Amino acid sequence: MKKHIVTLPGDGIGPEIMKSAEALLKAVGEKFNHEFTAVTKDIGGVAIDKYNDPLPKETIEACESADAILLGAVGGPKWADSKARPEQGLLKIRKHFNLFANLRPVTIFDSLEASSPLKQNIVHGSDLMIVRELTGGLYFGQPSERRDGGRSVVDTLTYTHDEIERIVRTAFDTAMTRRKHLTSVDKANVLESSRMWREIVNTVSKEYPEVTVEHELVDAAAMKLITNPAYFDVIVTENLFGDILSDEASVITGSLGVLPSASLSETGLGLFEPIHGSAPDIAGENKANPIGMMLSVGMMLKYSFNLHEESAAIEKAVNQVLSEGFKTADLKIDGAATLSTTEMTEKIISCL
Ligand code: IPM
Ligand code: MN
Repeated sequence: MKKHIVTLPGDGIGPEIMKSAEALLKAVGEKFNHEFTAVTKDIGGVAIDKYNDPLPKETIEACESADAILLGAVGGPKWADSKARPEQGLLKIRKHFNLFANLRPVTIFDSLEASSPLKQNIVHGSDLMIVRELTGGLYFGQPSERRDGGRSVVDTLTYTHDEIERIVRTAFDTAMTRRKHLTSVDKANVLESSRMWREIVNTVSKEYPEVTVEHELVDAAAMKLITNPAYFDVIVTENLFGDILSDEASVITGSLGVLPSASLSETGLGLFEPIHGSAPDIAGENKANPIGMMLSVGMMLKYSFNLHEESAAIEKAVNQVLSEGFKTADLKIDGAATLSTTEMTEKIISCL
């Protein structure tokens, strides 16, 4: 198979972990006989520095002719006061390519159970997928502005019926490939948008009789994620709730550093990135955990290129390295040796 990828390393530790992704792609290509080509473009803070634009035209054009996009991370204190913000690059690329379906799997590796801030008997057996709507809601609604000379402010939460229906369908389809249990999270006791969301979930559910569906209010869901994470299989929710719940769910695993994500469009173009940020405090120190990025490569192979065996091989290699007693600085595994970013990358590749 021949595929062309755009890599967007971005800021902070982004360039270091993207090197891990590139090395992994090369190794998978050699082992499984695929030809992956890649071109690197700018996004976020580095793009502001170079082009005064967090998502330059050149980057968009390169992505338009790509089969998939890999992204490292954006943002950092350097751009805290700049007019253009690095995060705008990320929001714009999501919107431009209609990447409405954000899949965030939260998997607990056995060897990491003890790293979790929760008790081991509570995290044990947790394996959930957050399906977050990514191109609507409060993040994109207009108007969004200060008014009355700065004395008041408005943000707008809008969704069309079709926007809700397509993400709900993605969630049902995802549930069908898993344990067939879908939790739709909303705030229907307060918000009209949530009441419409609920109606659509109930309508679509008739087409998926095998899937058990329930509705949970977002505050209760936040609590249950901590008290009983193993209860969940697939969670579907709107943009802002999904942002908050996915960070909450990620710490259950012991480190934000190990989690990948996929952002998919209807046409099949996908963007794949670890869910952690740019970690400017450790940038350039060869300390960053490359696992979230490498598993994002795995999600790309699976969701964009349909290479299931290759994707499973990456997951298996990561599992093996962790259970053989190797870790990065962010992980707590008793007696395990701490590796640098490049050492961990090589170790995982050697287990493929
Ligand atoms: C995420 C991030 C982004 C978001 C930020 C960087 C704009 O937190 O991908 O979850 O809020 O969506
Ligand atoms: Mn977030």
